[in-house]
Amino acid sequence: MENDFTNLPDRTHDGSVKWDIMLAEPGAAASGAVPLSIADMELATPPAVVDALRGLVEGHVLGYTEPTDEYYEAVLGWQRRRHAWSPKREWVALSPGVVPAFTVACQVVARPGEGIIIQPPVYYPFFRAVRAAGCEVVENRLIERDGLRYEMDFDDLERKAADPANVALLLCSPHNPVGRVWTAEELRRVVDICLAHDVFVISDEIHDDLIMPGCEHTTIMDIMGPEERERCLVCTAPSKTFNLAGLQCSNIFIPDKNVREAFVAAFEKVGIGQLLNAFAYAACRAAYMGCDEWLEGLISLVDGNRRLVGERLAQVAPEVGVAPLQGTYLQWLDMRAWGKDGKGLEAFLHDHGLYLDEGYVFGSGGSGFERMNLACPRSVVEQAVERLAECSREAMGR
Ligand SMILES: Cc1ncc(COP(=O)(O)O)c(C=O)c1O
Repeated sequence: MENDFTNLPDRTHDGSVKWDIMLAEPGAAASGAVPLSIADMELATPPAVVDALRGLVEGHVLGYTEPTDEYYEAVLGWQRRRHAWSPKREWVALSPGVVPAFTVACQVVARPGEGIIIQPPVYYPFFRAVRAAGCEVVENRLIERDGLRYEMDFDDLERKAADPANVALLLCSPHNPVGRVWTAEELRRVVDICLAHDVFVISDEIHDDLIMPGCEHTTIMDIMGPEERERCLVCTAPSKTFNLAGLQCSNIFIPDKNVREAFVAAFEKVGIGQLLNAFAYAACRAAYMGCDEWLEGLISLVDGNRRLVGERLAQVAPEVGVAPLQGTYLQWLDMRAWGKDGKGLEAFLHDHGLYLDEGYVFGSGGSGFERMNLACPRSVVEQAVERLAECSREAMGR
C-alpha cells in the first residue's frame, strides 16, 4: 500500500462524527460538501498502521492486553527522535484520549471552587474539563495582533496566577484554534509565572507533531528543571498526528509520583483499569515506529493547503483574515468583515455548502471566526475556497 494524500475516502456510512453531524443538516447531502470541521482527517489510514492492525487481528488472541516494553520504547523513542527530549518511562500514564486525560488532571490538581486558567479562544472541551472538576474557568485571553498573530497576555497571566484561588493553567501547545506554536521563550515565561505562584501546568500537546516548515515545537517539560517538572504534566498522543482518534490512545507524562498515582486512581475509581486496548497499542507502536515518511507527506499536504487558502482568499475574498498557521492542521479564518456573528455566520456558510467549526464555540474572541480543517486532499480545499469566494461576493455585495 502506498501513502495516499489524494483520494477522498468514503466516510458517509462508517459512523464518522464529523460526517454524521453534517449529514443531519437539511440539504447538506445535496450540497456535495465535505465537512471541514472536527479535527480528524479525510485521508486513508497510514499503511503501516493498517498492516499492524491486520496482523493483530489475524495472528493474535484479543484478550486482556497490557503495554509491552516495545510499546513504551516506541512512545519514548518518538519523543526523543521527533522532539529531542528524553522523558522517563515511569512518567508515562496511559489514557483513552487527551480529553479524558486533561479532564481527570483538572480533578487531580484542583479542588472544587478553585480556579483553572485557560487561554481563549481555545479548544472548547477545556471549558468543560474545568467545570467538570467543579472549578471556576479563569480566562487569560489571547491578544490578537495585526495580521492575526496571537500572543499570550503575560501581564494578565501574572495577575491571575498571583491570585491564590487559581491553582492550575490548562495550556494548549500548539494552540488550537489559532495555530500558534509557542516559542521556547514564551513557554519559559509561562513556566516562570506559573511556578512563581505555584500554579500547576497541564500542557495539552496533542498537536506537537503537526508543525509547519520553519517552526519548531518545544515540549514545555523539556525547558523545566527536575523540580519544576513536578508541577507539570504533558499530554501527547498519536491520534491527531496519524489520524487514529477512533482508537482512543494517549500517553501522558507525569513526573510527580503523587499526581501520577492520583491520575491513575481517578480512572480506577470509575472501574477503568485497562486504559487502552489491544488495537490502540498496536496502532500507536506502528505509527511511532514506521510512519515518519507518512507524516512528512501529511505536513507537506497541509502546508500546501494553507498556502492555497492564503493565496486564493487574498484574490477572491481579501476581507477574510487568514491567521498564520504555524502548527495543527486547523486554519483560523476571520470573517468578521461579513458582519455576521455566531449562528448567523454558521447558517450563511451552510447555505453555501460549507461546514466548518464555528469560532464562537472556542469562547471569548471566537465570534465571527471559523476554523477550517486542512487535513484533506487539495481538491477538497480548492472546492471549499471557491465556496468561500461565493460567500464573499454575497456578503460584500460584489
Ligand atoms: C487541543 C486538543 N486536545 C485534545 C483533542 C482530542 O483529544 P482525544 O481525542 O485524544 O480525547 C483535540 C482534538 O481536536 C485537540 O485539538
